[in-house]
Amino acid sequence: MLPENTPKEAFIDGRWALAPKTFTLRRPDTGAPLAEVADVDAETARKALEAQIEADAHWRKQTPAARGAVLRRWYELILEHAEPLARIMALEMGKPIREGRKEVAYAAGFVEWYAEEAKRIYGTTIPSPDPAKRLMVIKAPVGPVYAITPWNFPAAMVTRKAAPALAAGCTVTLKPAEESPLTALYLARLWQEAGGHPATLQVLPTTDPVGVSRVFLEDPRIRKLTFTGSTAVGQQLYAQAAKTMKRIALELGGHAPFIAFEDADLEKAVAAAITAKFRNGGQSCVAANRIYVHRAIHDRFAEAFAEAVGRLRVGDPLDEATEIGPLVNAAAAAKVEAHLSDALARGARLLGGGKRRGTFVEPAVLARVPLSAKILEEETFGPVAPILSFEREEEALAMANASPYGLAAYLWTRDLGRAWRMSEGLEFGIVGVNDGLPSTPVAPFGGMKLSGIGREGGKWGLDAFLEIKYVSVVIT
Ligand code: SIN
Repeated sequence: MLPENTPKEAFIDGRWALAPKTFTLRRPDTGAPLAEVADVDAETARKALEAQIEADAHWRKQTPAARGAVLRRWYELILEHAEPLARIMALEMGKPIREGRKEVAYAAGFVEWYAEEAKRIYGTTIPSPDPAKRLMVIKAPVGPVYAITPWNFPAAMVTRKAAPALAAGCTVTLKPAEESPLTALYLARLWQEAGGHPATLQVLPTTDPVGVSRVFLEDPRIRKLTFTGSTAVGQQLYAQAAKTMKRIALELGGHAPFIAFEDADLEKAVAAAITAKFRNGGQSCVAANRIYVHRAIHDRFAEAFAEAVGRLRVGDPLDEATEIGPLVNAAAAAKVEAHLSDALARGARLLGGGKRRGTFVEPAVLARVPLSAKILEEETFGPVAPILSFEREEEALAMANASPYGLAAYLWTRDLGRAWRMSEGLEFGIVGVNDGLPSTPVAPFGGMKLSGIGREGGKWGLDAFLEIKYVSVVIT
């Protein structure tokens, strides 16, 4: 059952609004109906847009300290509500409850960081070459923001976007993924409880993402689009946002390489590869999708890895023991199955797992995967780990970079020189050196190439919602 007080209405202008119709949200594991959720249409979206524009004029004038205080209270409330939030995620998108709790802490971390940083939006003075002038740079909120968030991290992706925007003095209207609207609505309820002014954060669940998004994308008063999702959708949004020259942040697909060198601490590298690959059942943009292991340790690594993967507990996301829940829907499970079959048909060897039951797929390990296999090119977004071997550092670097994506990469070595050479050579926005989980609210998250534009997190995430304004004053 859903926690008490889980909102199902849209959150518009500080009110819980019943949309003209609703849609049925279903559990990914059983397919059972979970809730009837407001299904916002374009007309309702236009009302939300007007409310946001009005609220924006007010919110941007609040002092940074006042904005930070609301964010601080929001942070505390999110932590107090960790249990219901984790439960909602388990029910609506299948995240194992113990992983859901970790996500809540991660999500709250963004709010805490930006509550503090709101007070540190400093400007700059520039020594003037003209004695009659004084030059300075001040920072201003970019203006009203439209945000689109994915289902795989339904709490953290909301706060990673909304917290810096709100701290900077921007208002946010957010369209959550159809698969996970309840987490976003619950977070909005906590924002309201924290004292968030009406229409500073609005949430519009909808089964018409194109129609609702068009309202915001075509309006020149919306000054920024921030999106996390697939590269294909990101490209369309980029083109749409160009017409009104919106500021843009796109966190798109990834295809992370995980490289274990011959001098790696084998035990730690295996444990980190499990985290990097199977966190959230492999449904992460930073998931290790290609595991390259030096020939000298390949067999020992593959054996230990397959053994550890075989111990992962698959099951009910509400069960405390579960480590791998269902995939988000049948289409996701079918894609994983197709990648597995394609690799096997091309000659890969299955070291374990891979059976599918509805939306559940047993975590699988593939060895001797040929370079032509789809799994080495496309994002699998599921619990299958292909292992390949290499001999030389340059070969590993070339294979890792031979991808149109450039979000995250991982490498394991005790050789400091190699760690630096590889970190500098990898064409990825995030590099984990002996670290299978580099994500943190205080560091930049984002990618190169088809993985997107811009960075979220840390001071970079705040800068993304600020305009730089140069002021020149003649003093004579
Ligand atoms: C993502 O998969 O989009 C987010 C993962 C993370 O923040 O580590």
